[in-house]
Amino acid sequence: MIEGENVRLRGLELTDVDVFMKHWNNLDLRNFLADADRGPVSRSGEEEWVRNTWRESAEKKGYTFAIETIQDKRMIGGTSLMKINWTSRSALFGISIYNPQDWGRRFGREAARLLVEYAFNVLNLNRIELEVLDNNERAMRCYRAVGFKEVGRRRKSRYVNGEFRDEVIMDLLREEWMTEPKSNNLG
Ligand SMILES: CC(C)(COP(=O)(O)OP(=O)(O)OC[C@H]1O[C@@H](n2cnc3c(N)ncnc32)[C@H](O)[C@@H]1OP(=O)(O)O)[C@@H](O)C(=O)NCCC(=O)NCCS
Repeated sequence: MIEGENVRLRGLELTDVDVFMKHWNNLDLRNFLADADRGPVSRSGEEEWVRNTWRESAEKKGYTFAIETIQDKRMIGGTSLMKINWTSRSALFGISIYNPQDWGRRFGREAARLLVEYAFNVLNLNRIELEVLDNNERAMRCYRAVGFKEVGRRRKSRYVNGEFRDEVIMDLLREEWMTEPKSNNLG
């Protein structure tokens, strides 16, 4: 368990699929995710996805964790390190808080900080990259607060909800993160 003040990261369970089924068919959520399929999802497909996260971590290809609130033990989202390259010690970061009512409550920021700390201090990675759609200001503010910086754009690279959007590429290097003032506060 990776524990913060308000959220913890834990392994996914098949029972978490109940939460996916409640929120994952909401396009308000999925339209923020650059690489998500936008068709309806099925319970068996989501169960297979959970099993795949177990395989990926067993093979050290990626790590996906559930985000759970400490106060009331609600599973509110997921966060991942994917496409890990052990030679370059880099990974692709992703995160989703599923229920729009939980957005903007700084759960995402704390979960991202916990995963970044795990990536650098436990896995000994050196660089974390992420992709965010250009209209997702909330996510970019959250990522900047964690220390990510914009390093480029893939122009009009994603077609979402009838429009081509840029993907903003952000990254965080271990050396920058090491010198940032650390606190587990949510500011
Ligand atoms: C992106 C996400 C993980 C961020 O987590 P979060 O807990 O909502 O974010 P935080 O509360 O830590 O920070 C949100 C920031 O955006 C601001 N914000 C909140 N609502 C906003 C809105 N509608 N528009 C612009 N900014 C907004 C907040 O004020 C805060 O910025 P500040 O600290 O500078 O004041 C979460 O919102 C989420 O999962 N959204 C849906 C899926 C998604 O977008 N995933 C990321 C794909 S790259």
